[in-house]
Amino acid sequence: MRHSVLYTLVFSALLCVACAILVSASAVVLKDAQEANKALDRKLNVLEAAGLKAPGADLSAAEVDRLFAAIDQVFVDLATGEEVEDGDPETYDQQKAKRDPAQSHLAPENRSRVTRLPNRVVVYKIENAAGRLETVVLPIEGYGLWGTLYGFLALAGDTSTVVGLTFHDHKETPGLGGEVENPRWKALWPGREVYDREWRPALQVVKGAAGPAAEDPYRVDGLSGATITSRGVTNMIDFWLGPEGYGPYLANLRSERSAA
Ligand SMILES: Cc1cc2nc3c(=O)[nH]c(=O)nc-3n(C[C@H](O)[C@H](O)[C@H](O)COP(=O)(O)O)c2cc1C
Repeated sequence: MRHSVLYTLVFSALLCVACAILVSASAVVLKDAQEANKALDRKLNVLEAAGLKAPGADLSAAEVDRLFAAIDQVFVDLATGEEVEDGDPETYDQQKAKRDPAQSHLAPENRSRVTRLPNRVVVYKIENAAGRLETVVLPIEGYGLWGTLYGFLALAGDTSTVVGLTFHDHKETPGLGGEVENPRWKALWPGREVYDREWRPALQVVKGAAGPAAEDPYRVDGLSGATITSRGVTNMIDFWLGPEGYGPYLANLRSERSAA
């Protein structure tokens, strides 16, 4: 019996079923933990971009929650630039919304290769004790060399001065385009200006070296051997700070600020 073809087939089939059950069960059991880890990673990146966490510092989930309590997560309607009150930003999945035609729209052709835009995005606002906007953290994404890079750009209350930049997900090559994660490169960003005097996106990642932020505010050093990724980052700044991205929202924030 043990050497019969039927035995082998039945044994293999049972083994396959057992393995399938094991894999599906672990996927189901681990799903919540994976979602929680993803949410924690997103929060760590927001905190780092906002300058509330040092690059590489490991914070516990409780510390992250404590720091996040000072951050206001708000929905923004990209087209109008208005904040939207209804819904829960904490549980909103922007990537899922982007794939749903009822919650997204086609993006005009752009160099970041963003094809669809969610109607609403979650941004993160930090205000001082007097209620004045100190920092706003904006999710950004765009194509590099191998795929889409996802990150956060934090701007000061003037909506132009960079506070920080982080990338939490990308497919660029470690040591080349992957250097977008290098703390030394990220340290070159704070103090640069994303807008020129006419409020047009102006910040560029150049080939070679730029000067210090105070003297050369519109340029950042390129990543060596990774001109395509560097250009991808410039394209992202250009797209997300323009009229299809956060342009209308940031203009609203500026008028609120000058009216206050
Ligand atoms: C295996 C391999 C991986 C590469 N990865 C990247 C990358 O992640 N980002 C990038 O811009 N260029 C990458 N390049 C290099 C690009 O093909 C291109 O040569 C480079 O962007 C030009 O930059 P440079 O003018 O600074 O040399 C890679 C090249 C090879 C062979």
